[in-house]
Amino acid sequence: MQNYAEVVRDFVEKHATGLTVAFVAGAGLLAVRRWLAGGVCRSKVRLDGKTVLITGANTGIGKETALDMAQRGARVILACRDMTRARIAADEIRQRTGNGNVVVRKLDLASLQSVRDLAKEIRENESRLDILINNAGIMMCPKWKTEDGFEMQLGVNHLGHFLLTNCLLDLLKKSTPSRIVIVSSLAHEKGRIHFDDINLDKEYKREVSYRQSKLANMLFCRELATRLQGTGVTVYSLHPGVIRTELGRHLIPTLSLWKRVLAMPFVMLIKSPWEGAQTTIHCAVDESLAYESGLYYSDCATKTPAPQALDAAAAKRLWDLSASMVGLA
Ligand SMILES: NC(=O)c1ccc[n+]([C@@H]2O[C@H](COP(=O)([O-])OP(=O)(O)OC[C@H]3O[C@@H](n4cnc5c(N)ncnc54)[C@H](OP(=O)(O)O)[C@@H]3O)[C@@H](O)[C@H]2O)c1
Ligand SMILES: *[C@@H]1O[C@H](CO)[C@@H](O)[C@H](O)[C@H]1NC(C)=O
Repeated sequence: MQNYAEVVRDFVEKHATGLTVAFVAGAGLLAVRRWLAGGVCRSKVRLDGKTVLITGANTGIGKETALDMAQRGARVILACRDMTRARIAADEIRQRTGNGNVVVRKLDLASLQSVRDLAKEIRENESRLDILINNAGIMMCPKWKTEDGFEMQLGVNHLGHFLLTNCLLDLLKKSTPSRIVIVSSLAHEKGRIHFDDINLDKEYKREVSYRQSKLANMLFCRELATRLQGTGVTVYSLHPGVIRTELGRHLIPTLSLWKRVLAMPFVMLIKSPWEGAQTTIHCAVDESLAYESGLYYSDCATKTPAPQALDAAAAKRLWDLSASMVGLA
């Protein structure tokens, strides 16, 4: 015992500098990690008696958000395209929260028919809808088309949600104060809306398509907030952070090996799904946001979006175009 302590002391004395450097670097790394983790939703608000619908809630930040809503006592509807994965997620959420009021519903955002069917079912069978969370998303897939012939990323990330939201507005208005949360991304900053070629038929670039769809989320949020002024329904858009989820499923396999190796050190710095869900949860429940609408959030605080996301004329134009594309006009 005595001997062991001496050996340790000896080692520490010999390597004092090295150990100090290692300690400081470790603490620094932890601090950076904590800083990157961003804000945490501190609201303790309960949602007993309220209903929350979340799209794409079987995995990633959607599932974490659903778990949090269930913990707060809400009736939670997981709207998902893969019913097997959805049921597994719902089972897990029920088990971890003790909230039995967690249900799954079929929703494929790449099909307008599926969107209409879900909206009809909700309108017919739900007495209220307090929080709608447009979370589902697809990123940087190949040049794919939805069932209705729309470019896939615009179709799923924007058009499907545009139709779904519009079809649920009456129920949201009956349940005021109610909220609509739109999960966008920092990627909107480099985006533009290709009004002359909205499906990117002329030239498809997967990142151009993703950025356009996330800018469309931002413009939708603003125009929707304008249209809902005075109704008691408020709207929020957000960037959740960079998070370890399945979102990279179409991108990662196409990257060269060296790019993947280079990316490795950064992987430990990106957010966990729990951390990534915090801004969505903040927008969905935090009392301090009750009278804000049409704004953009990141790390549980408001953020100024890119200038093209503040373009009211473009927001109006995109609304009209989207309405005619999904058959609402
Ligand atoms: N992860 C990030 O770093 C990051 C950064 C910025 C923004 N975001 C945004 O955060 C949101 C959630 O992404 P995530 O990171 O949690 O990704 P994820 O783990 O890939 O989850 C995406 C969810 O969307 C669903 N989905 C995809 N296509 C759908 C369709 N056609 N119909 C219905 N649901 C569909 C997926 O269902 P399946 O499992 O059945 O495919 C899944 O449940 C997205 O809007 C994304 O753009 C994420
Ligand atoms: C409403 O619920 C009932 C009973 O579960 C079901 O039979 C009916 O199909 C649902 N309505 C819609 C539009 O799905």
